[in-house]
Amino acid sequence: MVLFLFSCTSKTDNSSIAKTITVDKGGNGGFSSVQRAIDSVPSNKKEWTLISVKSGIYNEKVVVPEDKPFIILVGESIKKTLIQWGDHGSSNLSATFTLRADNFVAMNLSFQNTYNLDTPDLDDRNTILWAPAATIYGDKASFYLCGFVGVQDTLTDALGRHFFVSCYIQGTIDFIWGKGQSVYKNCVFNATTGMLGGRAGYITAQGRANSNDPSGFVFLSGFIYSTGPVYLGRAYNQYSRVVFKNTYMSIVVQPKGWSSWGFVGKEADIVYSEVSCLGPGAKMSQRVKWEKKLLTEDLKKLTDLNKFINEDGWIQGQPRLK
Ligand SMILES: *[C@@H]1O[C@H](CO)[C@@H](O)[C@H](O)[C@H]1NC(C)=O
Ligand SMILES: *[C@@H]1O[C@H](CO)[C@@H](O)[C@H](O)[C@H]1NC(C)=O
Ligand SMILES: *[C@@H]1O[C@H](CO)[C@@H](O)[C@H](O)[C@H]1NC(C)=O
Ligand SMILES: *[C@@H]1O[C@H](CO)[C@@H](O)[C@H](O)[C@H]1NC(C)=O
Repeated sequence: MVLFLFSCTSKTDNSSIAKTITVDKGGNGGFSSVQRAIDSVPSNKKEWTLISVKSGIYNEKVVVPEDKPFIILVGESIKKTLIQWGDHGSSNLSATFTLRADNFVAMNLSFQNTYNLDTPDLDDRNTILWAPAATIYGDKASFYLCGFVGVQDTLTDALGRHFFVSCYIQGTIDFIWGKGQSVYKNCVFNATTGMLGGRAGYITAQGRANSNDPSGFVFLSGFIYSTGPVYLGRAYNQYSRVVFKNTYMSIVVQPKGWSSWGFVGKEADIVYSEVSCLGPGAKMSQRVKWEKKLLTEDLKKLTDLNKFINEDGWIQGQPRLK
């Protein structure tokens, strides 16, 4: 995998971290399992606990339950610390990593769902099942230099405010989907749709439910790559909302760009927009006619981090990353 990482924010200022736990496969830490380390954190703590996960492949399904807020999970690098499992069939129960707690930070590690990952040709539709690498329900969660690798529904951005920075996200169908209210900054999206036997995949399937629902996915300065045809998104709900700004799109993005999926005739309510995108896939001439040109003020509300997800400054309140 090719990674484009930017002026990376990587060192942890642990002044606000009350405790550090080490997970090491080699036995040089308190734990050899990520889940056991999480389980050891007392319930409903108000201080941050740093769980440092040494390099290695951790074959386990990991859940951060609701009563374990303020955890910061740090690996050694996006390539060397890998948490993987291969469950499938349910978008909310099959994930390799499930976050149910609020106030969470992850950095320098990858989450992978191995189901169908090495199948070269998935032309039988029935073989494609929900198999998330991560399902995120918690509010105020941020991910720096993290990898999310899977085939279908890779990143189930289910609920809450989330900030993804310099992450790598790989999948084929609806591989970033849900009702999350999220900003993805400087991320790389790799649509491995070459394995779909000629069918197109979809990067997003955002599920905003009504015009007052604050959810939506906003992509800032990312890169889209693909091994086959791919759409930017399809509407998982009538008010689905997705904005790509300053994003590089390689040639394989489908000229129409978007699909209204089950909401044909309701396109006026769907908020899909592209702003200042680059690359051969960013040509707008054949895009669906109902794609929106947002008013400057509406665009600002969505693309300004502090207006869209960080009005109360929770991002600055998390352990500072240098
Ligand atoms: C996308 O994933 C495929 C399959 O793993 C890989 O061969 C390719 O290098 C990746 N592309 C990028 C840009 O990471
Ligand atoms: C995170 O990874 C980067 C690049 O791989 C590395 O330079 C940095 O030291 C890591 N940060 C932490 C906190 O481990
Ligand atoms: C903070 O980091 C320093 C150096 O990395 C380490 O020695 C110390 O134990 C850490 N403190 C806590 C409370 O985790
Ligand atoms: C999983 O999703 C189903 C259907 O969307 C929902 O009814 C159920 O409550 C969810 N389960 C959990 C554990 O969140």
